[in-house]
Amino acid sequence: MNDPLFAPVRLGALSLANRIVMAPMTRDRAGPGDVPTPLMSEYYRQRASAGLIVTEGTQPSPEGKGYWRTPGIWSQEQIAGWASVAEAVHAEGGKIVMQLMHCGRVVVSANRGYDADVIAPSAMRCTDLVPGPDGVPASCAEPRAMHAEDIERVVGEFGQAALNARAAGLDGVELHCASGYLINQFLNPASNRRTDSFGGSPENRAAFPARILAHMAELIGPGRVGLRISPGNPYNGMDTADPAPVFTALLRAADQIVNPASKERLAYVHVIDMGLADLDTLGMVRSNWSGPIIANNNLKAESARALLEGDRAEAVSFGRAFIANPDLPERLRTRAALRKPDYTLLYVGEGRGYTDYQSL
Ligand SMILES: Cc1cc2nc3c(=O)[nH]c(=O)nc-3n(C[C@H](O)[C@H](O)[C@H](O)COP(=O)(O)O)c2cc1C
Repeated sequence: MNDPLFAPVRLGALSLANRIVMAPMTRDRAGPGDVPTPLMSEYYRQRASAGLIVTEGTQPSPEGKGYWRTPGIWSQEQIAGWASVAEAVHAEGGKIVMQLMHCGRVVVSANRGYDADVIAPSAMRCTDLVPGPDGVPASCAEPRAMHAEDIERVVGEFGQAALNARAAGLDGVELHCASGYLINQFLNPASNRRTDSFGGSPENRAAFPARILAHMAELIGPGRVGLRISPGNPYNGMDTADPAPVFTALLRAADQIVNPASKERLAYVHVIDMGLADLDTLGMVRSNWSGPIIANNNLKAESARALLEGDRAEAVSFGRAFIANPDLPERLRTRAALRKPDYTLLYVGEGRGYTDYQSL
C-alpha cells in the first residue's frame, strides 16, 4: 500500500524525502549570547528523518527576543552555532529551515538579559502573562509604537536574518506570522490601531508581512521562504473575530511574490488550523494561495493521511509528537505506538526531556 506520508514532495526550492514536517518548537536551551549549542545540534540531528525540520522560533534581532533562552541569528557566534545544527541535520540526509520569530510586544524584559526597545504596531501592552525566566509566568513590558523608520529597519533585519540563515547553511526560512507575535500583531485589530498605510484595512494590516516576505524572497530566492499563519488564534491577546479578510489579503499578497526570471514562488504556507466553527481554514488558504500547504494542529497518523489523500495539503507537520519520538516517521510508517513527552521538561532540563528520548 502506498502511504501518502512517504511520497516525496517539492515545496518551492525544497525537495522533501517525505511529507512529515517537524513543526517549530521553542525549547529554551540556547547558550550565552543566545547561541545554539552542541546539545541543540544533537536534538535536531536525532529528528532529521523528518522530510523537513522547521527550527524553533529564532529572533532576527535583539529586539525580537521575548522569551527565555531563545536563539538568535544576528551575531557571528549565533551563525556559527546554527552552522553546526545545519551540518548535523544535513549529514543525516535531512532538510532544515529556520523559523524567524519577532516577539514584538510579547516580551518579559528579564528574559532578554540586555536592554533593547520593546516595539509593536501600536503602544498597547499584551496583558497575558507569559513565561519569564525559568518558565515562571510574568507580565509583558510596555511597548512603544513603531515609527516609519522602524518599519524599514525591521524589514531590513528580517532580510539580513534570512541571509544569515543561508550563510549558516540552513535550507531556507519560515516567517512566523502566527500566535500573536509581531507580524500577527500587525494583522490583528486588537494590537494594530495604526492610522498610516500599515493599519486600518485588511490589505494595510497585511502590508508589513508582505514587505518582509518580498524582501527576503529577493535576497535568498522565493522558493526558500515560507510563512506560518494561525487564523483565529486567541493567543497573546489576539482578537479572534472574522480572521478571513486579513488572511485572504496576506495570502493573495504572498501569492504575488515571484522571481521575474525563474518564475519561482514562495515555498509554502504552514497553517495552524484552529478548527474554527465558521471558517474552513485550509479551504480559505487553498482558494487564495496557489502554492503548497503544510497543515498542522493536533494531527494523528490517520487524520494526517486523510488531509494528504483529500488534497487538502501537500505536507503535514507534527509538533508534540516529535518531542518524545525522534524517529517519528519510522513510527508512523510501521504504525508503532507513540511515546508521550514529559511536559514538565519542555522549557527546562537541558538534555533531560530533550535529547534523551530513544529511537526504536
Ligand atoms: C513546546 C512547544 C513550543 C512551541 N514553539 C513554537 C514556536 O517557536 N513557533 C511556532 O510557530 N509554534 C510553536 N509551537 C506550536 C507548534 O509548532 C504546533 O503548532 C503545535 O504544537 C500544534 O501541533 P501538534 O498538535 O502536532 O503538537 C510550539 C509548541 C510546543 C508544544
